[in-house]
Amino acid sequence: MKILSVFGTRPEAIKMAPLVSLLAHTIDIESKICVTAQHREMLDTVLDLFCIKPDYDLNIMRHGQSLCQLTAAVLTALDAVLNAEKPDLLLVHGDTTTTFAGSLAAFYHRLPCGHVEAGLRTAHKYAPYPEEVNRRLTGTLAEWHFAPTSGAADNLLAEGVAAKNIFITGNTVIDALLATVHKPCDLEGLGLEKVDWSRRVLLLTCHRRENWGRPMKEIFSSIAALLVDFSDIEVIYPVHRNPGILAQARECLSGLPRLHMCEPLPYLPFCHVMKRCYLVLTDSGGLQEEAPALGKPVLVLREVTERPEAIAAGTARLAGIGRDTVYAAVSALLQNEAEYKKMARSINPYGDGHAAERIRDIISGLNI
Ligand code: UD1
Ligand code: UDP
Repeated sequence: MKILSVFGTRPEAIKMAPLVSLLAHTIDIESKICVTAQHREMLDTVLDLFCIKPDYDLNIMRHGQSLCQLTAAVLTALDAVLNAEKPDLLLVHGDTTTTFAGSLAAFYHRLPCGHVEAGLRTAHKYAPYPEEVNRRLTGTLAEWHFAPTSGAADNLLAEGVAAKNIFITGNTVIDALLATVHKPCDLEGLGLEKVDWSRRVLLLTCHRRENWGRPMKEIFSSIAALLVDFSDIEVIYPVHRNPGILAQARECLSGLPRLHMCEPLPYLPFCHVMKRCYLVLTDSGGLQEEAPALGKPVLVLREVTERPEAIAAGTARLAGIGRDTVYAAVSALLQNEAEYKKMARSINPYGDGHAAERIRDIISGLNI
């Protein structure tokens, strides 16, 4: 069976790394990798860490390109790869433009598609934007759905996907995290030299498109107020490479005391910062899954989430996107140790570190 795995952004690469590494060593499977390079630098550090050598690199990232341009570029470039490779199965991951365009290209070539991390839903078309619609469309196009949790599987069943095509596997992000977090790591040269680790360190990431503009300003304004009111906290903020986000972050956060803005961290040092921090503030998807596994409370900088499991387990809370709601959620945890301890429990609602093995075994057994 020839399998072509298609991915292109940082989170897809992190979450596909455990699976493509296994597929590469599976007898009876010929595994090919095509990266769209929707992200360039942020993708390349992940490929290096996991020693992944793509067979195809579409190199489509352009600064300032629109979602339409990005989608068209992925589709056009993949057309040629599919004509050349004629795989038996195409694998995509998650909910990015690469995911949607990859699954659409597979459909146009009448190829079966397997969707890893299938079934996540918020039921809000624009939250997250454009991911909610990307994953719904991918769900329609895909043949096999690898759902990380039973809740995700239920979402697919409710949409009419046949039960025999849905597999609950856990999330491969836990495989990647557990394979990485214990490796030795030096934080030198990453812009974190001035962090005082004896203080409480808050790890911040914020990049969602629906948070661009006013919500991001409000979030940053609450961070500024927290740094003034709590003299014993430090904030580490690795800023996404999207130039618009960097400009907004500089405008709102430059010069604040104990704020450490840095470039995106490679995954290994990022795991170490997650492990050492006090709590996580994020609008990212992946961090909502990783932080609970490390026993770190997560305050989600969004109004809805497709990852309700950590909230149900008590290690994550929705902090919203308003200045006051974010401030209130963070200050409550900083001031109330009992509340903090209740959240800071290590749980793994998203997987046991063996999701990739399960997906590989299921794929091996498919009758293609
Ligand atoms: C994209 C995904 C989002 C995912 C996020 C993970 C879409 C529509 N969005 O976010 O679902 O959560 O990735 O990070 O698929 N850039 C660089 N170097 C890089 C990466 C980005 O310079 O390594 C700059 C480029 O100017 C690029 C821009 O950032 O054009 C935006 O990249 P894009 O993939 O569109 O990012 P997002 O949509 O913000
Ligand atoms: N991450 C990283 N370096 C950073 C920020 C995040 O390696 O500076 C990792 C993080 O651990 C998680 C993934 O990137 O595995 C999340 O990616 P991102 O937030 O870009 O996308 P999302 O999860 O929101 O789709």
